[in-house]
Amino acid sequence: MFFHGTSRVNDRGHLEIGGVDVIDLAKEYGTPLYIYDVALIRERARAFKQTFEKHGVKAQVAYASKAFSTMAMVQLVEEEGLSLDVVSGGELYTALKAGFPPERIHFHGNNKSYEELEMALQHKIGCFVVDNFYELSLLEQLSKQHGVTTSILLRVTPGIEAHTHDYILTGQEDSKFGFDLNNGQADEAFEKALTSESFKVLGLHCHIGSQIFETTGFVLAAQKMFKKIGDWKEKFGFVPEVVNLGGGFGIRYTNEDDPIPASVYVEQIIAEVKKQVAELGIAMPEIWIEPGRSLVGDAGTTIYSIGSRKEVPNVRQYVAVDGGMSDNIRPALYEAKYEAVLANRVLDENEEVVSIAGKCCESGDMLIWDLPLPKAQAGDYLAVFCTGAYGYSMANNYNRIPRPAVVFVENGQAQLVVKRETYEDLVKLDVPLKAKVNK
Ligand SMILES: Cc1ncc(COP(=O)(O)O)c(C=O)c1O
Repeated sequence: MFFHGTSRVNDRGHLEIGGVDVIDLAKEYGTPLYIYDVALIRERARAFKQTFEKHGVKAQVAYASKAFSTMAMVQLVEEEGLSLDVVSGGELYTALKAGFPPERIHFHGNNKSYEELEMALQHKIGCFVVDNFYELSLLEQLSKQHGVTTSILLRVTPGIEAHTHDYILTGQEDSKFGFDLNNGQADEAFEKALTSESFKVLGLHCHIGSQIFETTGFVLAAQKMFKKIGDWKEKFGFVPEVVNLGGGFGIRYTNEDDPIPASVYVEQIIAEVKKQVAELGIAMPEIWIEPGRSLVGDAGTTIYSIGSRKEVPNVRQYVAVDGGMSDNIRPALYEAKYEAVLANRVLDENEEVVSIAGKCCESGDMLIWDLPLPKAQAGDYLAVFCTGAYGYSMANNYNRIPRPAVVFVENGQAQLVVKRETYEDLVKLDVPLKAKVNK
C-alpha cells in the first residue's frame, strides 16, 4: 500500500489521515479536498533542522513557501522554528499576515517589482536574494531612500544540471535566474554589491533544480560556489557569512521514486562545506537550505468524488473526477505521476486498470494514466497521494471551477485552513458592463 506519514486504513475500510476518516471530511467539506498530515510536515521539518543541530552547524532551513503558501502553513513553519522563503508580494503578504517574524524571511524572485522591494524593506525582512543587475540597482536606490544597509545573497547559476525534468531545471547556464558564475556576471555583480554602502553581502545562493534524488549536484554546486568565494577572498578579502544551497530535495510520488532521507542530503552538504572552508582557511559560514516539496509534498492528499466513466473499447477506461488540472496542474505541465486509491474501499481488490480524467475542457487534463483500481463507480472517492506541493499553490479557476478547501489533520482533529471558493467568489472581482443608455 502506498501510504505516507499517519495514513492508514481504518476498520471501515476507509483511508484515515491524522486519525481522521477522510470520507467524513469529504462529506463535511466537499470535494475536491486537500488534506494535510500535519504530523508528517513536522517530522519532515525536524529531520532537516535536527541534522544541522546534531552536527553543531549554524543553519537556516527556509521553507520555500511557493510549494504551498497559506496563513496556517506559515504558522506551522513558525511553530517549527524554520525560516521562510517568499518569491512575491503575495507570499510576503501571507507571511506577514500570519505573523511570521520578518527577520526570518528571505525574498526571492527574478523580477521583484519596485513595490515588492519597497514592501519588503518597510517590513525589514531578513535577506534579499538578488537575482540580476536591474534588481541590484533598484534595491540599492531603495535602500538609500530608507537609509538602511540591506543584507543580500547573490543568486548564482553554477552551470550544473540536476537530474530531473527539463522544465524545472534552474541551475543550468541558460536560465532566467541568477548571475552566471562562469561568464563574469557573478564577479561584476559581486564587486558592485561589495563596494556599495547600501549592501551587506552575506554570501551566495544557488538552486540547482527540483525533485533531485542524489547528493552529487549539491556537492558540485558547493564546490563551484567556493571556487568563486576563493577568488573573491584573494581579491577582496571576502569571507561569506552564509552559503545557501537552495531546495530541490526529492520525494516519493510513486513507487518508481527512491528518495534519500533529509539527513543524508544535509550531511553531504555539511561535509563538503567543511572541506571547502578548511581548504580556504576561513570560518564556517551558516548553511541555508530551502526545501519546499520535501516538507509538504507527501503530507498532502487530494480527495475527489468519482463521476462519469467512458469506455473506449479495447483501448481504455476513462474515470472522471470532480477536479483535475484546476487543482493539480502538475501532470499536464510536467507529466508528473501520482498514486491513488479508492478512499472509501481501500482494501477492495483491484479489478481493472483505468485512467483518471479531470473535468476541465482539455484533452490534456488527465491526472493519472493506467491506474489499477477496484471497479470504481459514481459516488466513490478517489484519494490521490503526494499532492501537498505545487498543488493548491498552482490551483487556478480554469473553466471557472472554484478552488478546493484545505484541511489540516493531526491527532484525530481536523481544522479547515482554507475555505472552498464559492461561485460568488469567482465573480467577486468582475466588473459588469454599465447598463446601456438608450439613445
Ligand atoms: C530558489 C528556490 N528555492 C527553493 C525551491 C524549492 O524547491 P523544492 O520545492 O523542489 O524543494 C525552489 C523551487 O522552485 C526555488 O526556485
